[in-house]
Amino acid sequence: MKHTYLSLASALLVLAGCATQPSADVEALQHEIAELRAKAGPPPASLDALYPPQAAAPLYQIRMHDLGGPLSGMVVDLMEGDLENVAPQFEAFRTAYGEVAALVPEWTHLYPIGPVDELGSALEEGAQDRIMAAIQRVGAVCHDCHVDYMPKVHQRYQWPQFSAVRATDPVTRDEVPMAGYMRAMETSFSGMMTSLQQAQPDRARGYYDEFFNRFGGLADLCTNCHDTEREYFIDESVQRLVRQIGTELQADAPDPAAIGSLAQRVGTEACFRCHLVHVPAAFAQAGWSGGH
Ligand code: HEC
Ligand code: HEC
Ligand code: HEC
Repeated sequence: MKHTYLSLASALLVLAGCATQPSADVEALQHEIAELRAKAGPPPASLDALYPPQAAAPLYQIRMHDLGGPLSGMVVDLMEGDLENVAPQFEAFRTAYGEVAALVPEWTHLYPIGPVDELGSALEEGAQDRIMAAIQRVGAVCHDCHVDYMPKVHQRYQWPQFSAVRATDPVTRDEVPMAGYMRAMETSFSGMMTSLQQAQPDRARGYYDEFFNRFGGLADLCTNCHDTEREYFIDESVQRLVRQIGTELQADAPDPAAIGSLAQRVGTEACFRCHLVHVPAAFAQAGWSGGH
């Protein structure tokens, strides 16, 4: 009888083991998925209330200086051996840290209080090495979040919205969004090169005229966001390359190789380099537009 009880008990133990073991794994996986989602997705929706248009100013960015100011101030004073001025800066820092941590509930856990308390006790003790080590650990808290989220916040809130950009297509006279303008310009550009390779110079010239006008009209897109003259990508040096393509195309039998190499330079100097700067923000915004 005793034997039966025992094996029943061990069976229950095994069952309990089966039940808890996978669920711990599942929990760990769920946690990992949530973290990866947070890293892959847009920054938390609570930030909407801390940035224009909802807020009058970029409040989260402004509050960051209440952390950065006293933290760097402490380092400066410590290097000067001016310990007297460290304590009030620490107090200002600790207060701001708690307030900023509460601003965005999804991020509160990214402001652990441990490293701050440790800095506090190191300061009380007055041991320079311990203080410096504690400051480094606090700095790591800042840096970890910056690496994951600063670019996203820039792309979402500090870059103007690409979806709102409009310009007049000089060929169709329609007002179009930026992506539509780009696709039309791309069609003129590749139409020109394809026709040339197919020994259809008249067609190539027609596409070139379209491309020339669309390239010239790009400045209209830029002024949606920039109010100074652009010195790269569409400046005189690139426009000269575009006009050289036009000159080459005037020949009775235009040379596809010469035009191809000019076109490649335009593709690099104007299109590709401008894409390197602007496309990450544009496509991050586009990818998140269904988010919130
Ligand atoms: C949970 C995330 C997070 C933590 C933790 C964090 N920051 Fe930031 N910080 C940001 C984001 C996001 C930005 C970009 C804000 C923007 O440009 O709108 C930023 C920007 C900054 C800036 C630049 C502000 C500017 O005007 O460009 C400073 C300085 C700064 N943080 C200091 C700190 C310090 C010091 C700490 C640590 C004590 C810290 N941050 C911790 C998210 C964080
Ligand atoms: C949706 C807004 C937007 C549009 C449209 C836009 N830009 Fe920008 N661009 C920015 C932002 C934001 C930066 C980051 C630095 C800054 O604000 O100048 C930038 C940076 C740049 C820079 C490097 C920094 C500088 O100011 O010199 C150049 C060059 C540039 N853009 C050229 C252009 C050109 C050329 C066009 C039009 C063909 C254009 N941009 C269209 C938003 C835009
Ligand atoms: C502002 C600098 C800038 C210049 C100069 C520029 N582009 Fe773009 N291009 C962009 C941006 C920004 C996007 C993304 C727009 C969006 O989706 O809102 C884009 C997108 C595109 C796309 C993808 C459209 C899509 O929806 O997938 C093509 C194709 C393209 N550009 C072609 C060109 C060609 C060809 C040139 C040069 C002759 C060129 N671009 C010059 C900024 C530029």
